[in-house]
Amino acid sequence: MTVTPRIRPRRLRTTPAIRRIASETRLHPGQLVLPIFVREGGGPVPISSMPGVVQHTLESVKGAVADAAAAGVGGVMLFGVPEHRDATGTGATDPQGILNLATRVVADEVGDALVVQTDLCLDEFTDHGHCGVLDVRGRIDNDATLERYREMALVQAASGSELLGLSGMMDGQVAAVREALDGAGFVDTAVLAYSAKYASAFYGPFRDAVESTLDGDRRSYQLNPSNRREGLREAMLDIEEGADIVMVKPAGSYLDVLADVAAASDIPVWAYQVSGEYAMIEAAAMHGWIDRKRAVHESVLGIHRAGADVVLTYWATELAGWLNTGDVA
Ligand code: PBG
Repeated sequence: MTVTPRIRPRRLRTTPAIRRIASETRLHPGQLVLPIFVREGGGPVPISSMPGVVQHTLESVKGAVADAAAAGVGGVMLFGVPEHRDATGTGATDPQGILNLATRVVADEVGDALVVQTDLCLDEFTDHGHCGVLDVRGRIDNDATLERYREMALVQAASGSELLGLSGMMDGQVAAVREALDGAGFVDTAVLAYSAKYASAFYGPFRDAVESTLDGDRRSYQLNPSNRREGLREAMLDIEEGADIVMVKPAGSYLDVLADVAAASDIPVWAYQVSGEYAMIEAAAMHGWIDRKRAVHESVLGIHRAGADVVLTYWATELAGWLNTGDVA
């Protein structure tokens, strides 16, 4: 005896047109942010563990941000790769430091077309590679680091950054930076809090990208990958401290945290698809093991579906191009 189903969910999957109209989630170029590396000295230099991504020069970055703007990408997040590093990361607060120079160049080039954002953290600038300064015993000095973050915030805002990405995971960093900005009259400079930033193996290729060597690890400040509740708690604290946007990072392995934060937050929630997530898909695609375009799209769509309003991804410009031409939907 054959059973005739009365309810047929497959009806809405029959044709491309009906699948399109039944889509619950869509990506738009404006909700993608492109992270960009700018190095001091010659280049551009390819990053071997991130095929397709380069360290730009102050000159070549102009083309990259113009392409992003032309594709309708919502913003760029700038990282600096300095030639010299020291214990307190002085390059971070030098107005002529690479990140601050790059910010000025990018703001002049595309400041009207997209949101210019900067990484506010010391790890690219310290010789020990930590996100903060160390005390005499070699441990992270949280409160001394806050002083450095406040100084960084003022220089970055003065250089033309509109949205400061606080990625250091120090306690009280949002309140400290907000107070410094307001005190100096930068009331419109916004704060993107990397609230739930986990101590992740997926940052591996980023260390190549910024040529950072790390003494030890970041587990005394970044979150323990086993903790879901704590991710939500960090996001709630940052909202109380005055964050304008909260973020979960990495994205793909933390979709539960992302969904929790999205359900509880009354401010925008973003996610960062990090270097290792990029490298895994690129590597598999190079071997012909997965369909690159579909995997890229699906990975970002999944992050959006889980609750991210905006996704930082190294594929931002390319994916925006596909969205514009209807190559992916
Ligand atoms: C810290 C920072 C890191 C990343 C972004 N900001 C490195 C870290 O915390 O270890 C990683 C981004 C990526 O892996 O794509 N400045």
